[in-house]
Amino acid sequence: MTTSPTPETSHFDAAARNWDQRPMSQQLAAVPPLLLAQLPLSPTDQVLDFGAGTGLLATQIAPKVAHVTALDMSAAMLQVLNDKGVANITTHHGDIFDGLPGRYHAIVSCMALHHVADVAALMRAFAAVLHPGGRIALVDLYQEDGSFHGDNEAKGVKHFGFAPEALQTMAESAGLRGIAFTDIVHMQHQNGRSYPLFLMTGHLG
Ligand SMILES: C[S@@+](CC[C@H](N)C(=O)[O-])C[C@H]1O[C@@H](n2cnc3c(N)ncnc32)[C@H](O)[C@@H]1O
Repeated sequence: MTTSPTPETSHFDAAARNWDQRPMSQQLAAVPPLLLAQLPLSPTDQVLDFGAGTGLLATQIAPKVAHVTALDMSAAMLQVLNDKGVANITTHHGDIFDGLPGRYHAIVSCMALHHVADVAALMRAFAAVLHPGGRIALVDLYQEDGSFHGDNEAKGVKHFGFAPEALQTMAESAGLRGIAFTDIVHMQHQNGRSYPLFLMTGHLG
């Protein structure tokens, strides 16, 4: 599947080359081990990384599982990931709402939910491609005042973070159960403020 650059992808296409060097990305490097501590994975698992970008999560999960599908709408972000040459990661260029190539034992994501306008539909899309009992482990911002990204429209920001109760309701409506939230990291912003991120976990059925 191919997707042309849109206002949603142009920010990430432009940012891709230096994505891993950004101070924010370097802080996000703390996320994968903390997420993995709460998401038991097996060597036979097929995992989807939603909004995988340059593979900050996918590259750390790949050694623990059979295969990671790294889904992203930005071709340039996925090119950076492809250049890392991880054998059991396949990049998939497209919008999650255009369909996915497989079914998964787990879906992970870091800082991508707030770019999706219809998060209830996203939860249904996740549920539709999980194996029975398949798990989610999703990281994003708690509700904030819009100051995290600043230029929200240009960066394709659709939500200023999330209230856990609202996300939980959407997830449960999609058939996800055992929803739990934990604080995972606090992002120290150049504006001097600290923004907490949550890890949301749960499973299908
Ligand atoms: C803030 S970046 C995070 C990238 C990476 N997970 C990280 O933590 O560095 C969000 C990514 O989600 C992708 N994205 C947003 N909406 C998407 C959608 N509907 N389908 C696929 N990818 C999407 C964007 O293209 C972008 O690369």
